Amino acid sequence: KIHNVAVLVGSLRKASINRKLALALAELAPPSLQLDIVEIGDLPLYNEDIDVNPAPLPYSRFRQQVNSADALLFVTPEYNRSVPAPLKNAIDVGSRPYGQSVFSGKPGAVLSASPGAVGGFGANHHLRQSLVFLDVPVLQQPEAYLGGAGSFFDEQGKLNDGVRGFLQKFIDAYALWVERQIKG
Ligand code: FNR
Repeated sequence: KIHNVAVLVGSLRKASINRKLALALAELAPPSLQLDIVEIGDLPLYNEDIDVNPAPLPYSRFRQQVNSADALLFVTPEYNRSVPAPLKNAIDVGSRPYGQSVFSGKPGAVLSASPGAVGGFGANHHLRQSLVFLDVPVLQQPEAYLGGAGSFFDEQGKLNDGVRGFLQKFIDAYALWVERQIKG
């Protein structure tokens, strides 16, 4: 059986390294996984006043896409040592209405990447804090804090071989993790 994975990318910019990494992961994923990026850039800042019936269209579109996925994958940079606001916003949107979170119980993993040396560690672990509350069991190993990400792709967009090797290891471990979580 093929498991559908909702991929949430923490950067909105077109040339995002993290988006490129997410697309590379989609290509490297084994046939048991179908990875699709769920867009978060059009979600209005979460506000309970606008989250009434009917919910804003981008909210319901996002919730439906995540709901129909079997698993979650977060690929994100770090902003000021924490989760970029657009990604935190998407998490807030998906977590509501109370009791109807679209994330509940879906297996997940977090990969962070930054041109800096710390590899988005702060974002990675702040995100994990929310995922504990949202009842998302998160892959533990291999940890993925990718530093020096400015040189991962050359001018032709070709991915560095060493990084590709790591991404392969990561997505294979994730596939096994998803399989195990879903079989229960
Ligand atoms: C950053 N950046 C950054 N990098 C980092 O390693 N630690 C940090 O705390 C921050 N803080 C930060 C805040 C803001 C507002 C911006 C815009 C950027 C740099 C960031 O890692 C870099 O821009 C990445 O290239 C962003 O990822 P994408 O867009 O390439 O995926």
